[in-house]
Amino acid sequence: MAITDTNTARAAQLLLAGKVIAIPTETVYGLAANAYNMDAVLKIFDIKARPLFNPLIVHTYDLNNVRTFTEDIPDAALLLAKAFWPGPLTLLLPKKPIIPDLVTAGSPYVGVRVPCHDIALDLLKQLPFPLAAPSANPFGYISPITPQHVAAQLGNKLDYILDGGACRVGIESTIVSFAEKIPTVLRLGGIDIAMLEKVVGPVETALQHLSNHACTPGSLLVHYSPKKKLIIGNVSELIQNYSVIANHIGILSFTKQYDGIPQKNQVILSPQGCLKEAARNFFGGLRFLDELPIDIILAAYFPNHGIGMAMNDRLQRAQHK
Ligand code: TXA
Ligand code: MG
Repeated sequence: MAITDTNTARAAQLLLAGKVIAIPTETVYGLAANAYNMDAVLKIFDIKARPLFNPLIVHTYDLNNVRTFTEDIPDAALLLAKAFWPGPLTLLLPKKPIIPDLVTAGSPYVGVRVPCHDIALDLLKQLPFPLAAPSANPFGYISPITPQHVAAQLGNKLDYILDGGACRVGIESTIVSFAEKIPTVLRLGGIDIAMLEKVVGPVETALQHLSNHACTPGSLLVHYSPKKKLIIGNVSELIQNYSVIANHIGILSFTKQYDGIPQKNQVILSPQGCLKEAARNFFGGLRFLDELPIDIILAAYFPNHGIGMAMNDRLQRAQHK
């Protein structure tokens, strides 16, 4: 069983020895290993039961260090890096050969991110290599936002979980590609489109919601699924439709409590209606409901702006099973 602790020197030691450990970031916990070491990276895929066609994000501590494993960084990417790093933004940049093809699933672009988390940065600065790290959940399941979430599912496959507390953002990073002339958002996340556009002007989005193609990494339809059936819509109407099984319904609610469903089966993400607070509680709420003795989870879409768009994207993926 994994040890959970805050000792970054111990974490660094394990990573130097080619091990995989869980690390905190401001978005979600990551399953990290030396990005330059193929054997270590293979262990990540193995522990996560993740298909090899799905590439990994590489984490480091500053823009200068990013240059050691990427080629010419496009101007738009530089502007975004300077505006949002450290932060919940992943940029797809041309990779140098030092990044194994295994990390990028054969793509010439590597996903790069500087996390905004003191403990993660402290760890990264102790290492002579960047860290490849996907979210620390079994493939296709809900991303972990606490060390306890990681331990519950992967604790028996890991030696160490670096404890950085609960993740402040709670939703994964926004992913931007520069393969086309106009920067293209491939995954909505902690940085919203309006924030990006303030810095680089208009961006495209290619979220490929409805596709399950291996070539659209980060967009697999079944991502973020709870084990329970998730139904999205007008929650009050859904409660009417499913009233015969009222005691077996859970609700993931943005602000309010609903009548007719046991209170203990309702998670209210932000009574004040703050989208950022809701995002912080989102994956935890989904997990909580998933563990209850209920049959279905009801939810409504969030206001579709800011980080609400990223949560709507996660909801949509979670309902496809
Ligand atoms: O916030 C985050 O991004 C978290 C923390 C740990 O940094 N990481 C994360 O990793 O969400 P993961 O692997 O669960 O999701 C990253 C997504 C993957 O679905 C992958 O397909 C896509 O990013 N991705 C990574 N590298 C890519 C690349 N070179 N080209 C296209 N997509 C890439
Ligand atoms: Mg993930």
